[in-house]
Amino acid sequence: MKTNGQVLDLSVDLEKEQYDWKKDVIVNKPKLLEKVEEAEKLDNIARIKKNIFLIKLVINYPKDDTDGLINIDQNGETMVLKRDALVEELKQIEEAQTIERARYYLDRLKKGISEIKTSKINDINLNRWKEYQEILTDSLWILEKRDTSGAHIGSYWGNFIPQIPNQLMLRYTKKEDWVIDPFVGSGTTLIECRRLGRNGIGVELSPEVAKEAKNLIKKENNTHNINTEIITGDSRKVNLKETLYKFGVKQVQLLIMHPPYHNIIKFSRSNDDLSNAPTTDDFVKMFGEVLDNTTPYLEKGRYLGIVIGDKYFKGTWIPLGFYIMNEVLKRDFSLKSIIVKNFEETRGKRNQKELWRYRALVGGFYIFKHEYILLFKKKK
Ligand SMILES: C[S@@+](CC[C@H](N)C(=O)[O-])C[C@H]1O[C@@H](n2cnc3c(N)ncnc32)[C@H](O)[C@@H]1O
Repeated sequence: MKTNGQVLDLSVDLEKEQYDWKKDVIVNKPKLLEKVEEAEKLDNIARIKKNIFLIKLVINYPKDDTDGLINIDQNGETMVLKRDALVEELKQIEEAQTIERARYYLDRLKKGISEIKTSKINDINLNRWKEYQEILTDSLWILEKRDTSGAHIGSYWGNFIPQIPNQLMLRYTKKEDWVIDPFVGSGTTLIECRRLGRNGIGVELSPEVAKEAKNLIKKENNTHNINTEIITGDSRKVNLKETLYKFGVKQVQLLIMHPPYHNIIKFSRSNDDLSNAPTTDDFVKMFGEVLDNTTPYLEKGRYLGIVIGDKYFKGTWIPLGFYIMNEVLKRDFSLKSIIVKNFEETRGKRNQKELWRYRALVGGFYIFKHEYILLFKKKK
């Protein structure tokens, strides 16, 4: 696929992609273009509006389609559009006050249908940006429900919700790009890689957890035929160059890190485990070593996303997130965003909700309800 405003073939491979038939509409692309161009040529605004009204009618009531705009024959060149966004664009044309305005909207619609304009770092078609309602752009993420579909069973204590790697990959990678997760745990990132058609490498210190992750990932269909590899080892030392070399790759396009929040959850007994770092300083230092071993493989101009929460120790709030942020900023990265995400109550805390409230009232502190997603861009 070519990018950056060049005209593309938007034909759809229905076997590979997954569509929501209620929200999406599959149209015959040349037919739709023809209809829009026909309308554009009219020199009477009322007639333009009537033509657009007829297109809208067919989109909303496919049974009325006599031209094959939606009822596509086998050989038709097809494209998938978001029904609501398309109807909204058609309405805008219908509501135009002048013929110039109507033509302007028609031209924009034509571009949206015939051209894909993407940036270098993702596949978001900027000519149809209104269609991407699912992509978050605010710095406050309230994610109510964990995605538990498919292989995302969510039973690993300390995992993150799949929507996090999903959002980061949609914003910061293209299909077939490579992603590294140096704290892969139960494999959430790699399961998402399989869904979105990104190649993924995960590193996990605990052999049992790594084995379980491999089993889980296998359960997710690999419809895009991408590579997912788990290395069992210490992310401060593993030889990523070797693994990448095996796939003929030198650099990756996204790093996602979800380290232990120091010792809030002890993941193993190993001294190499960041959750066993004796002090906060040691934890931050170990994290820095993971950065030094992994970030050289991130392409310049690409993103690093870190998911981390703070902790309490002896009546003091320890801002792990900010310490980690500073550790990254000592290296060649610029800070792009600090996202605050609501924090799911851990099972233990849920049972002790009232007790925590009492403790907070007595101790003069607030109960953690958020964690951070820190986003950095590697400097060019
Ligand atoms: C917060 S969990 C990550 C969970 C993961 N995002 C998921 O959804 O399952 C952190 C993981 O890092 C692993 N870990 C700790 N120290 C490590 C190290 N030095 N190298 C690699 N993995 C490590 C732990 O075993 C744990 O599984």
